[in-house]
Amino acid sequence: MSWHPIELPSPLASREKVSISLEGREILVCRVDDQYFALSARCTHSAWPLVNEPTEGMEIVCTLHGARFDMRDGCPSGGPASKPLSSYPIELRDGELYVRL
Ligand code: FES
Repeated sequence: MSWHPIELPSPLASREKVSISLEGREILVCRVDDQYFALSARCTHSAWPLVNEPTEGMEIVCTLHGARFDMRDGCPSGGPASKPLSSYPIELRDGELYVRL
C-alpha cells in the first residue's frame, strides 16, 4: 500500500463529497467538519453511486433502498446492505490530501 496525493476539483466544504478516480478505483472523498474520509464510491447493496446521496451525522444514506454507512469505517449501520464500503486511510498534509491504497 502507498500514499497517493489527490487533487479535488475544488476544496470540499464540510458535509460535501466528491468522487474521484485513483489507481483504477472509484473513491468517495467526504468531509465532515475537519475530518476527511475515503471510501469506495458505490453502495455495496446494488452499486448505486453514493456521491450525491445525503449524509446524516457520520452516516451516508443510500436512498435507492435505504442502506446507511458509517463514514468512519464504511460499515453498514442500517438497511439492506450487509457488506462494508472499503475504507482507506486519508490525511491532510500541508493543505494537500493523501489517500493510501
Ligand atoms: S443500492 Fe444502496 S441500498 Fe440498495
